[in-house]
Amino acid sequence: MPTTPIRVLFVCLGNICRSPTAEGVFRALVREKGLENRFEIDSAGTGDWHIGQAPDARATAACRRAGIDISTHRARLVRPDDFAHFDRILACDAMNLADLKAMAPAGARARVDLLMPFAGRPEETEVPDPYYGTERDFDATLERCRAACGGLLQTFIKDGLQ
Ligand code: 4NP
Repeated sequence: MPTTPIRVLFVCLGNICRSPTAEGVFRALVREKGLENRFEIDSAGTGDWHIGQAPDARATAACRRAGIDISTHRARLVRPDDFAHFDRILACDAMNLADLKAMAPAGARARVDLLMPFAGRPEETEVPDPYYGTERDFDATLERCRAACGGLLQTFIKDGLQ
């Protein structure tokens, strides 16, 4: 029986560090569970500086160390029709969340949430921007994305993948 996929969009500022990492991590977790045909997964940014570019080399390297290839992603802006197409939009930080809420068309379909609370770590509410940081910050980004994406996937599974 054909089922409509759950459409999930990860959003950060530049779409070259955090959200492509979250997209790659979530894709890998979904694949591990054999649920590829149940999800459509993408990422986008609220800022336009890096449109069309590959992910930041440091993000690609951190993901590669974890066995995840994000090199083929190309940065794009969040579009108004994303709010109609996607079921869930996950923001990496509070500024991304505020920007998304400000641009959401009235009556938008997508539910917009912060990503990090899905990790269930009360003191960690955001995936901090690693752009001006070090290799270590990119590994920390990956680790946070893993924890949060794992929790997010569990909520979808608990809800019967509806
Ligand atoms: P991201 O990181 O939002 O995780 O992709 C950033 C990338 C680029 C910039 C800021 C954050 N920038 O200012 O160009």
